[in-house]
Amino acid sequence: MPTADFQRRWESALMNNYGTPPLALARGAGAEVWDVEGRRYLDLLGGIAVNALGHAHPAVVGAVTAQISTLGHVSNLYISEPAVTLAETLLDLLGASGPGRVLLCNSGAEANEAAFKIARRTGRGKIVSTHGAFHGRTMGALALTGQPAKREPFEPMPPGVIFVPYGSADALRDAVDTDTAAVFLEPVQGESGVVIPPGGYLQAAREITAACGALLVLDEVQTGIGRTGSWFAHQAVGVTPDVVTLAKGLGGGLPIGACIGLGAAGALLEPGAHGTTFGGNPVCCAAALAVLRTIASDGLLDHAARLGKELAAEVAALHHPLVGSVSTAGLLIGIGLSAPRSAAVATAARDAGFLINAAAPGRIRLAPPLVLTEAQAQEFVAALPAILDAVT
Ligand SMILES: Cc1ncc(COP(=O)(O)O)c(C=O)c1O
Repeated sequence: MPTADFQRRWESALMNNYGTPPLALARGAGAEVWDVEGRRYLDLLGGIAVNALGHAHPAVVGAVTAQISTLGHVSNLYISEPAVTLAETLLDLLGASGPGRVLLCNSGAEANEAAFKIARRTGRGKIVSTHGAFHGRTMGALALTGQPAKREPFEPMPPGVIFVPYGSADALRDAVDTDTAAVFLEPVQGESGVVIPPGGYLQAAREITAACGALLVLDEVQTGIGRTGSWFAHQAVGVTPDVVTLAKGLGGGLPIGACIGLGAAGALLEPGAHGTTFGGNPVCCAAALAVLRTIASDGLLDHAARLGKELAAEVAALHHPLVGSVSTAGLLIGIGLSAPRSAAVATAARDAGFLINAAAPGRIRLAPPLVLTEAQAQEFVAALPAILDAVT
């Protein structure tokens, strides 16, 4: 069936909250996808930083197939082995020196909802978030999101959240006091187009929150699970948060999120305080374990760090007049444009066989599978000048 027919069916059956997508995809393998008309694309977005191992990775396929054939769902009234093993593995990867506890859920927004409730449990009133932040679309996560255009149509929001400029330690210092329950930060603002804060920012946030007894909540929904070249972005700067939220890459394409409390923050939700039917679903947990094991066994942390740096350097070295600056944190790459033409660039890239994202009017985001090969990265670099020329 041609794409146009799928678009017509989409328009009559699905709500219009996303608009009508330009492509209908039929299958994928590694970092490649094919549309319903058989055209091949290099997937440099990975389902928005989700498909850490690319499409149809045998480790995920095998783990999911084995688990769904054995025990598909139990709810949280019963224990399943994959959920326990996943929680233990995440705590190990976080290097939790003290006690830590994991709450498994189904998405990034839900992980942040849980973190919001943990913050409320401190008994303090104020929560500090940042301009440009994105923490999800549910009401609590939206209340933490520093983008008025997304928030305001749905006001009133849960109260108590204030916003400060991202990247300014001074602004955090002015805002955080002994009534502050938590500071929510992304180590890199992914949805805003890969905005990387100045060096020392997360360390300053840690010192400021610790001094006031406020929780430091790091939203690693986009930056976690190897995306930036370490398991979690905060590990590269030697900061230990109180709460970490995860989703996206964790399930390698299956829906799973996690809210992890380290130290005392892991004990703030008591029985009955929170829950979700699908949280800890054995199939999703089996997929997550396959993702974590494969990242470790295939050396994908080093690969992401090295290939991300190379790819960003080569894009910058094109010196194309439409490219302003390039920022990179592993395989999370932001290309700043000298004009607000990102939508046109994404369209031209698609026409040339590359899926990239217009994260902001002047910013392109790349978040390819961590299994992207060097040859595939080169294929994009070679095609980029013509894509940019088509727009200018
Ligand atoms: C940093 C961050 N937090 C939270 C979310 C929301 O995650 P989800 O779409 O799974 O609810 C996103 C999604 O883009 C994100 O990038």
